[in-house]
Amino acid sequence: MQYGFFDDKNREYVITRPDTPKPWSNYIGSAEFGGVITNNAAGYTFYKSAAQGRLTRYKFNAVAADLNGRFVYLRDEATADFWTNSWAPVCKPLDAFKSECRHGTGYTQIKSTYAGITSDVTYFAPVDKLYEVWRIKICNESSKARKIKVFPFVEPQCNWNAQDDMNNLQYSQYIAKTERIDGIIDIGSNVNMPEDPDNFTNKDQKRHTFFGLAGIEAENFDANLTSFLGAYGTYARPGAVLNDACSGSTASGDMPCAAYEIELKLAPGESREFACVFGVGRAVEAGREAITEMDAPEKIEAALDAIKAYWHSRIETLSAETPDANFNSMLNTWAPFNSLMTFYWSRTASLVYAGERDGLGFRDTLQDYMASSSLVPEETRERLELMLTGQYSHGGAKPVVQPFNHHPGQEAFPDQYRSDDCMWFFNCVPEFVKETGDIDFFKKILPFADKGEAPVLGHLRRAIEFNLERSGTHGLPCGLAADWNDCIRLGDKGETVFVALQLRFALNEYVSICQMLGETSEIEWASEQLSALDANIEKHAWDGEWYLRAYRFDGVKFGSKECDEGKIFMNPQSWAVLSGHATGARASQVMDSMHKYLATDYGIMLCSPPYIETDPNVCLGRLFNPCMKENGGIFNHTQGWGVMAAARLGMGDRAWEYMRNVMPASFNDKAEIREVEPYAVCQSTHGRLSPRHGTGRVSWLSGSAVWNYVAMTTAILGIQADYNGLRIDPCIPSSWNGFTAIRKFRGAIYRITVKSPSGICKGVSSMTINGEPIAGTLVPAAAEGEICNVLVTLM
Ligand code: GLC
Repeated sequence: MQYGFFDDKNREYVITRPDTPKPWSNYIGSAEFGGVITNNAAGYTFYKSAAQGRLTRYKFNAVAADLNGRFVYLRDEATADFWTNSWAPVCKPLDAFKSECRHGTGYTQIKSTYAGITSDVTYFAPVDKLYEVWRIKICNESSKARKIKVFPFVEPQCNWNAQDDMNNLQYSQYIAKTERIDGIIDIGSNVNMPEDPDNFTNKDQKRHTFFGLAGIEAENFDANLTSFLGAYGTYARPGAVLNDACSGSTASGDMPCAAYEIELKLAPGESREFACVFGVGRAVEAGREAITEMDAPEKIEAALDAIKAYWHSRIETLSAETPDANFNSMLNTWAPFNSLMTFYWSRTASLVYAGERDGLGFRDTLQDYMASSSLVPEETRERLELMLTGQYSHGGAKPVVQPFNHHPGQEAFPDQYRSDDCMWFFNCVPEFVKETGDIDFFKKILPFADKGEAPVLGHLRRAIEFNLERSGTHGLPCGLAADWNDCIRLGDKGETVFVALQLRFALNEYVSICQMLGETSEIEWASEQLSALDANIEKHAWDGEWYLRAYRFDGVKFGSKECDEGKIFMNPQSWAVLSGHATGARASQVMDSMHKYLATDYGIMLCSPPYIETDPNVCLGRLFNPCMKENGGIFNHTQGWGVMAAARLGMGDRAWEYMRNVMPASFNDKAEIREVEPYAVCQSTHGRLSPRHGTGRVSWLSGSAVWNYVAMTTAILGIQADYNGLRIDPCIPSSWNGFTAIRKFRGAIYRITVKSPSGICKGVSSMTINGEPIAGTLVPAAAEGEICNVLVTLM
């Protein structure tokens, strides 16, 4: 079943049926001030952090019809009939209510027609502004003169701290104060306390938001939630709309809201346009300013164009035309946009992440840089430096770095470490340097979290040493608190094959970097460690047909043919190939095992069979229903690794199969199964034994976004930044006869044409740059401003 389509030209996803299986969301705003919005205008707004700067309320565990949002109610004065511009929450019969929602990059437009009235609301936040705009156009499409009332409504929090607003009601219901000043609703939080602008996380300080109208006057307003909704009202039947009047209410304690009552008299064919602004600051200052900035249609249009341009410029590093329309829609818009949302908001702000995870989780954040390095290199540099200072001088990492509260050199030690955290440096630091060409970054001196400092190269060495120093009886790194998989409890003495393979990858990368920097003694040291580790992996991690997953402290194996449950895990197989431990026939064998036991039409399961009988002290994943999440679900974060491993081995059709099965767009016509947004990734998909095999959950903010994008760009298209230039080594399905791509790289533009006239998947047989033949697969970095035409043939 299909609920919408990709409009690639406008970089939008268009939802034509509003009753999607789940709310389908998007992000508005930019990196400072943002919001989540669904196809039915549900969602919320936040400033800097969805945990500490949550401006509007959202009940995460409510059913779709009862979600809070940015609603625009309309009421026909002649019939007393009322509806919302978004189909929900009023939900008029769909045969009489037509709507179209266009989710774009940083904006969402919802247009609907009901009872001869078309309403068209575009939500966005202008670049570098701390407010959002709702551009509202109402048109009388009927042949009669109409009197229509419009009630825009939003529900601010009492406290900007998300947890406090939700849990600490015995405090928070006494701290709100709303009033209408100069025509603008001012929503105060903690107004009796001093301001503390330098201390963002101080939740008990005075702060204000505002809700105002630009280009129209209101008859009345409500700023008290109970007055607007009615003591027993609902979003579907708010009292003020039923009664045809707001009451001029204000809140002094209890729950605030901000709503206006606007009366429009529209002749047949006549339309009116105006805007609402909601943002940070006092009504009389920031509110007034926002209204002045948005008080004419041309100003709004210009601001909307600017936010589109802002995001388009950030997702245009690589664009491609391939024979697959779904791949094109994902690659050219949604995969990079999704990756950026994940980069900016980490795991704090979505319809699922409720702001309870504040801060930057170490491993996830480093992986996020795999995509952001090419999209926003300078912003990545800043964040990467921050994370490097989250590493302790012993080489381990602070599990979560709090950007508002991080003091390198003074950070206390956590109770536990995760063995994989710092290993991700070996993916993202080289990726960043390759993208920027800034080799000196390896020499940049940065402090450790606790004490001391080292060049970036020294940070990398400490990361390796951390795991070498914490190896177990089989000579493999110990699992510690977790090793990417949060549900395998190996303990301080249990050993992880996954991290052993990461460590192998790390040592190899370290050797390459040291070769480039001429650090001879380091090359020797790392090479010795690598041979010793390789021998241990070979001796203790190979199970006969596939690689083991881990050893618990007492020797119990994970991912062995000896196990009844969790016989085989995906990650050690893909990483055996990616780390270079499995090559040749061994590599083919592990890929075959992974395919045979774990691959499904919706992606590759994390392990199989799922844990049902096993002691939960062995695998905590058992707490999830079988084939969900870490218990044998299809963990989408890992799917890119499957694609990359297959591509590395030249298995073009296999790589494509895995790619296709993880691309949200592939399921556009199966929305009744996947349920979540067909344009956004999700964290996990129900695996084979789930009664809902194929259903996706936890969309948008996930490592899936990042690794999908990396797999699309560097594995399938095979366009990969390297220290000295751009490497082009595609691995495409045999059904493709090639593709074209444009890659921006260090200020130059590469126009790439790949031809595969005889269905070859991988293997560059010839390459020309501006007509000149060149051997190999590396296009040397061109000068800034240059345009390079690259023709690649696979034969
Ligand atoms: C979630 C976490 C990530 C972890 C993964 C597997 O995606 O955000 O850190 O690696 O689960 O447990």
